[in-house]
Amino acid sequence: MVRDAGTAERWGMLADLLADGEVVILSGAGLSTESGIPDYRGETGRRRNAEPMTYHTFVSSAAARRRYWARSHLGWRHIVDAAPNAGHRAVAELQRRGLVAGIITQNVDGLHQAAGAHGVVELHGSLHRVRCLACGHRTSRHALDRRLRAANPGWQASSEMINPDGDAVLSADEIETFRTVDCEGCGGVLKPDVVFFGENVPPSRVEECYALTERAGLLLVLGSSLTVMSGYRFVRRAAAHSIPVAIINQGPTRGDGEALMTFDAPLGATLTALLEALR
Ligand SMILES: NC(=O)c1ccc[n+]([C@@H]2O[C@H](COP(=O)([O-])OP(=O)(O)OC[C@H]3O[C@@H](n4cnc5c(N)ncnc54)[C@H](O)[C@@H]3O)[C@@H](O)[C@H]2O)c1
Ligand SMILES: [Zn+2]
Repeated sequence: MVRDAGTAERWGMLADLLADGEVVILSGAGLSTESGIPDYRGETGRRRNAEPMTYHTFVSSAAARRRYWARSHLGWRHIVDAAPNAGHRAVAELQRRGLVAGIITQNVDGLHQAAGAHGVVELHGSLHRVRCLACGHRTSRHALDRRLRAANPGWQASSEMINPDGDAVLSADEIETFRTVDCEGCGGVLKPDVVFFGENVPPSRVEECYALTERAGLLLVLGSSLTVMSGYRFVRRAAAHSIPVAIINQGPTRGDGEALMTFDAPLGATLTALLEALR
């Protein structure tokens, strides 16, 4: 499999496949970097410094939860303030033109929807929701934000470093003085409604994505290293069903071997140009 910016011929082939419709899109962190949200691995394929929270650590340690919520109190604002970019807008436009059968995203930032896409399957959940681990009740992150502000009057912290998980790097002192809050209904532990490392995607959600994949005319991967099996398995499923897979990603991906074509290109400009070619 060649990995380059793509020949005119290959871009033409991709445009033809897109024009046939029934496209299922699988997006990853690379689609949101142009909105200022860092990805996990970047072009080198190596993980950045940020140590992601694991499910086990979160549920078993009150100190870890305090650290998470303190860091997220700052970092989440960065995600909320992020705006969709040309890549998200192009995906929404493809959907408006009736060419998209489904959008599966590994991102937790809500930017597909902010760009006007609908029916998006959020494989790893959303940072914009919060769930009680005891009673299952879901609330908005905005509502939690108001409660956290009220519980922490005068809490001041700042950070230059924003991590992909929507958290920020804080000092030990800043973390220790932060107060978390519990579920208003039952007093249970609150967790962002995202799938942490070490946690499984709900089986029904996985099945929904397999079903979408199997009906696809084309599986189009946008900005994912596919390092995580969670997304990679849909590439494997598509390939097993002889459904063409196209990958647009800067840097290699684990799915390159299964792909009919790959393009090493920046997503915003690339998808915008593809839309033009489809007119
Ligand atoms: N925005 C978010 O919601 C966000 C951000 C970081 C991580 N995550 C989570 O982390 C996991 C990471 O897996 P992943 O595969 O999505 O991300 P990843 O970081 O492993 O891979 C992203 C890929 O996109 C490429 N890329 C970056 N900017 C690009 C651009 N402008 N154009 C083309 N390619 C670009 C990178 O080189 C990299 O290969 C996911 O499970 C996801 O839930 C989410
Ligand atoms: Zn509860």
